Amino acid sequence: MEIGKKPGNFPRSNLFLSSSPSPSPSSMAILLVLIYSFFSASTTAFSPFVPQDNFLIDSGADKLATVPDGRVFKTEEQTKQFLEAKDEIKVSVKKANVPSPIYLSARIFVQEATYSFPLSRPGWHWVRLHFYPLKNDQFDLMTATFSVNTNKYVLLHSFNMNNNSKTVLKEYLLNVTEPQFSIKFVPMKNSAAFINAIEVISAPDNLINDVANELSPAGDFSGLSKYAYQTMYRLNMGGPLITSENDTLARTWQPDKSFIKSTNLAKRVSVATSTVKYPDGLTPLIAPQTVYASAVEMADAQVDQPNFNVTWNFEANPAFGYLLRLHFCDIVSKVLNDLYFNVYVNGKMAISDLDLSHELNGLAMAYYKDIVVNASFMSNGLTVQIGPTKLDSGDRNAILNGLEVLKISNSVNSLDGEFGVDGSKASTGSSRSTVAAVGFAMMFGAFVGLGAMVIKWHKRPQDWQKRNSFSSWLLPLHAGDSSFMTSKNSLGSHKSNFYSSTLGLGRYFSFAELQEATKNFDSNAVIGVGGFGNVYIGVIDDGTQVAVKRGNPQSEQGLTEFQTEIQMLSKLRHRHLVSLIGYCDENSEMILVYEYMSNGPFRDHLYGKNLPPLTWKQRLEICIGAARGLHYLHTGTAQGIIHRDVKTTNILLDETFTAKVSDFGLSKDAPMGQGHVSTAVKGSFGYLDPEYFRRQQLTDKSDVYSFGVVLLEALCARPAINPALPREQVNLADWGMQWKRKGLLDKIIDPLLVGSINPESMKKYAEASEKCLAEHGVDRPTMGDVLWNLEYALQLQEAFSQGKGDDETKSSVAVAASPEILASPTDSPSDCRPVSHPDQNNSPQKQAADEHSGTAMFAQFANLNGR
Ligand SMILES: *[C@@H]1O[C@H](CO)[C@@H](O)[C@H](O)[C@H]1NC(C)=O
Ligand SMILES: *[C@@H]1O[C@H](CO)[C@@H](O)[C@H](O)[C@H]1NC(C)=O
Repeated sequence: MEIGKKPGNFPRSNLFLSSSPSPSPSSMAILLVLIYSFFSASTTAFSPFVPQDNFLIDSGADKLATVPDGRVFKTEEQTKQFLEAKDEIKVSVKKANVPSPIYLSARIFVQEATYSFPLSRPGWHWVRLHFYPLKNDQFDLMTATFSVNTNKYVLLHSFNMNNNSKTVLKEYLLNVTEPQFSIKFVPMKNSAAFINAIEVISAPDNLINDVANELSPAGDFSGLSKYAYQTMYRLNMGGPLITSENDTLARTWQPDKSFIKSTNLAKRVSVATSTVKYPDGLTPLIAPQTVYASAVEMADAQVDQPNFNVTWNFEANPAFGYLLRLHFCDIVSKVLNDLYFNVYVNGKMAISDLDLSHELNGLAMAYYKDIVVNASFMSNGLTVQIGPTKLDSGDRNAILNGLEVLKISNSVNSLDGEFGVDGSKASTGSSRSTVAAVGFAMMFGAFVGLGAMVIKWHKRPQDWQKRNSFSSWLLPLHAGDSSFMTSKNSLGSHKSNFYSSTLGLGRYFSFAELQEATKNFDSNAVIGVGGFGNVYIGVIDDGTQVAVKRGNPQSEQGLTEFQTEIQMLSKLRHRHLVSLIGYCDENSEMILVYEYMSNGPFRDHLYGKNLPPLTWKQRLEICIGAARGLHYLHTGTAQGIIHRDVKTTNILLDETFTAKVSDFGLSKDAPMGQGHVSTAVKGSFGYLDPEYFRRQQLTDKSDVYSFGVVLLEALCARPAINPALPREQVNLADWGMQWKRKGLLDKIIDPLLVGSINPESMKKYAEASEKCLAEHGVDRPTMGDVLWNLEYALQLQEAFSQGKGDDETKSSVAVAASPEILASPTDSPSDCRPVSHPDQNNSPQKQAADEHSGTAMFAQFANLNGR
């Protein structure tokens, strides 16, 4: 896992090795190791599974039957040593409308009959029973009713063809422990039993994993190997029928079409089978490439925010539990980490925010999850749904490539009916709780680490729920900091003081006031949409424009937390942070009012919007402003605050192009008792700290990384991720650093800047960006350091633009070693210090900041979008 460091880094590396501009020798070495370890399984030719036990019997047949997949079924004569039967009734037909010659003959039993197979190896075995009600003049096989048991398991109870003249395949997966494995046919009184063909075949040991994970109550579930399974459905989503000839384990995969609830919501997608790769530990034994090469995804709803599920319905017996194996392979994404989705089973969250790139570090790689559905969650059959997550990053899509539905044997080892082989009756309820809940199993241990996955599984749902609450952006740097808790608690106990302006909570707005300001929350006034609710532009009393962020009333977050946040936010006043003006909590509303930033996001001035280009100096000043804002967040409050989503759309510009960091504003109390903040990965792709991404541990250095991307964006005037570009260019951080390492970063800068940047300024700036983008947080500078470097770059640029000579520029390099000298009098370091710090309360900067927030025309635009 040492590599997934940079999202977007890996797939390019393995698929387009030659295109990287001279990676360093060490990264090359790492790459090779990775390629080796990740693809050893898929690059070596896959050898088909050779089963140790392989009994194929064409019952009642006189001659060998070769089925379409090439396997040969033996005749009655060749297999008579396996059968113990009192009668000997064989029937056969010359021709019938059947897919395979094995159906042309049958063995009929009017008394109990037993096939016994001497197994060479204990363990998992496929048992396949083939039925076809051959027309014959002795018995009506369409109505013949019988049971089929093994030594231990009931496979069929009072089974009949139900007047159906189709071929029927019953497939079981049994963990056989006895050396003599028997299958007994028991006709009902005055009826007969029959069988056309039998398969008893060794299955791979690791086909069923013993460990699973329960959803509710959360916990590990182990013991799946103690159960027997019957295949109920095996589907190739969005693809063709896969017959036994195309599956090395002779499995059949049906198209899913007849199970889709609304076909117009689903879209089939497929790629060449050869694109599908198996990660280490997986082979086509799990499912053939053909299964992974096709999928069903969400249909294009022609809307920005498609919000629906694709649903499959299955008939299922509610007296049993089921093991669902969901096969996934991201054949739809162009870049890593662009696809997140949820999977629901019977209306319950089964997989939350599945991020295949994160699990696999590559696209088009095979992956699966096992879900155990307890009988108590069964009511009206089985429903499997996929749909978009609430995450705002990536493409709003969801996929499913394959699905296997296996029925799980009950407490008396029956797969059909409530009685066991010995006549014992299934206890209702208790048997169900043994196979409890919904869970997953089978991660590729070597690949990701089962332990880590289990932990993640448990953690995620909670984290993800939070993220959708009113806030969650701002996390204290030191999660365990007690002062933060104290302030929270004290808020609760002094709630009556809450409205007191002496607490400095900003202005209190009545709901009516904000209704008026936003024309009753007119949909035309919406300037941003997020998971927590909408952002409206509004005009308050004196004509001041504001941004009004209205929490969704359904938000899980309570009012108390909301108030806590306001208190925290209100303490954050800085010239380079978008200010909170006030709030409203009337009628359980949760509304925040911010200053409005008339020039919108920095990004819009860099590309995409055809706005007049910013000069290099302007860009430097904006970056410096943003760096100041972030530096203040990191160091300016007792607990320190991590922004978590630094990007050019979160740097807003006021009417004088002063940069202000936005969306830091909605705080969340972090999990306690950890040095870092451990949290579900949150942020915007292309900006995401690889270390955070990998370890889900957030530090202030995660913001520094993102800021490094911002610096490149300002220089190159292109998005952090641009899927439309050739693969090696998609991720700006990777692309930029490749050129930086070669000392040629100036080759990819914004063409509009060419010739206007002082090379020394450029050099300093590029170094700052490179340091921010260091792989490991510890190697990255603090925001304070970054700030100084940028100011230095600005000084160099100013000297250059003022037409100063080369000599003087050089001398300023020497001087610049001392940060104090570089600082301009108006931008003294003190403006980065906490305003709440007692010593700083009267600093000029504090006053400037307060003044500013009190007067400036406000409201934050833009990219509240996607929250
Ligand atoms: C299945 O295998 C046959 C024979 O190898 C091949 O011709 C056919 O294209 C395969 N079908 C699929 C769906 O892969
Ligand atoms: C998708 O299905 C789940 C479970 O049935 C449900 O909770 C969720 O609201 C659905 N999502 C959409 C967008 O309909």
